Amino acid sequence: MKKLFIETLGCAMNVRDSEHMIAELNQKEPYELTEELSEADLIIINTCSVREKPVAKLFSEIGVFNKRKKEGAKIGVAGCTASHLGKDIIKRAPSVDFVIGARNVSKITQVVDKKHAVEVDTDFDESTYAFGEYRTNPFKAMVNISIGCDKSCTFCIVPATRGDEISIPSDLLVQEITKAVNTGAKEVMLLGQNVNNYGRRFGGTDEKMDFTGLLRKISKIDGLERIRFTSPHPLHMDDAFIEEFASNPKICKQIHVPLQSGSTELLKAMKRGYTKENFINRCEKIRALCPEATISSDIIVGFPGESDADFADTMDVLEKVRFEQLFSFKYSPRPHTEAAEFEAQIDNTLSGARLTKLQARHTEILDEIMDAQLGTVHHVYFDELKSNGRVSGRSDDGKLVFVEGSEELLGQIVPVKIVKTSRGALDGVLI
Ligand code: SAH
Ligand code: F3S
Repeated sequence: MKKLFIETLGCAMNVRDSEHMIAELNQKEPYELTEELSEADLIIINTCSVREKPVAKLFSEIGVFNKRKKEGAKIGVAGCTASHLGKDIIKRAPSVDFVIGARNVSKITQVVDKKHAVEVDTDFDESTYAFGEYRTNPFKAMVNISIGCDKSCTFCIVPATRGDEISIPSDLLVQEITKAVNTGAKEVMLLGQNVNNYGRRFGGTDEKMDFTGLLRKISKIDGLERIRFTSPHPLHMDDAFIEEFASNPKICKQIHVPLQSGSTELLKAMKRGYTKENFINRCEKIRALCPEATISSDIIVGFPGESDADFADTMDVLEKVRFEQLFSFKYSPRPHTEAAEFEAQIDNTLSGARLTKLQARHTEILDEIMDAQLGTVHHVYFDELKSNGRVSGRSDDGKLVFVEGSEELLGQIVPVKIVKTSRGALDGVLI
């Protein structure tokens, strides 16, 4: 059997795209996955281009892989960097055999045997394409509910790499999730760049359905016990959506609300469509209707023109919302984005200092939040067997929890009492 080495960088969508590629390849001929690069017949790097660093790393990685690969093995570059650099990747690194964009993963079997094939069409419509079945973790299914992104956040390259936003018809989604449930998944993660903009435009159908309606429809699937989704956009968090989130028992009480900046002026320059006050108001509504929910966020520091006062606004939102989880980044100018052309680019040292300050304060908040978990009870869905007689899973609100145990716990949702806390995870005992 041929062996496949696949490296996946970036977001959850890329993780799902890798699963799609594995499924498609396996329909043509079976591949065994390997973590040993030198054994692989096919090497795929599924790239991210949201920030500059991983893109720069790609070419040195291709060089290393080319030296270590076995004779005749092929190297393919997939994902967002493939979309935006296209054939230039092969020009710069001729050892790359094919390039396949983030919106074209269903074409993997067409490019894999064609020397120097490049498929990077961002208009290609995969929304009604039924992918073959492959899941890394049988207990949890990831399902794309839309592809592409219709927003034009001025810092973000994703609309240029993933194309226009198209929602996938809800009947297809129910079919796909039901299949996953029938093979052991109790949890689904709905994926999209703007999940709560679902239904704005479908590919071949004229269905009328919004995200709240979709959540209601999916919750009716028998045997499905947990629904997660990422990422919603703060702009589309209307009251009906927050009420559904709070009251639907199948929806896990963990929500990502990407802030980007706390300054209304910068949010405008970013074209995010909400103000500092709107954002805080949405989070307050979530906290009021659903006090057990955890809120995570993304923040960019050093966006062009960010003044001390703008950054103070970001710190202020952090104090007010107290995000349970925070992904924070230094602004990275990207090709095909408006902000890369803005004049007032911020000095790297200043951005670095702001990032350190933000992360240090968030770490203090996180420590308080995690310490407060001691003695609490969480319902944990166990999905991974560890080597040291331990099993791990996620609480309903998304915390990583470890207990002593064996295989029998896998696929079970069990109450656990927390006996030890740390910044990244909790230790518990079964009760
Ligand atoms: N649709 C998602 C975002 C996808 S990009 C959403 O709205 O949440 C993931 C995250 O990467 C963004 O939320 C942003 O915080 C970060 N990001 C995107 N472009 C960036 C850039 N040019 N520099 C730094 N961080 C960036
Ligand atoms: Fe990027 Fe904004 Fe879409 S962050 S993915 S353009 S919502």
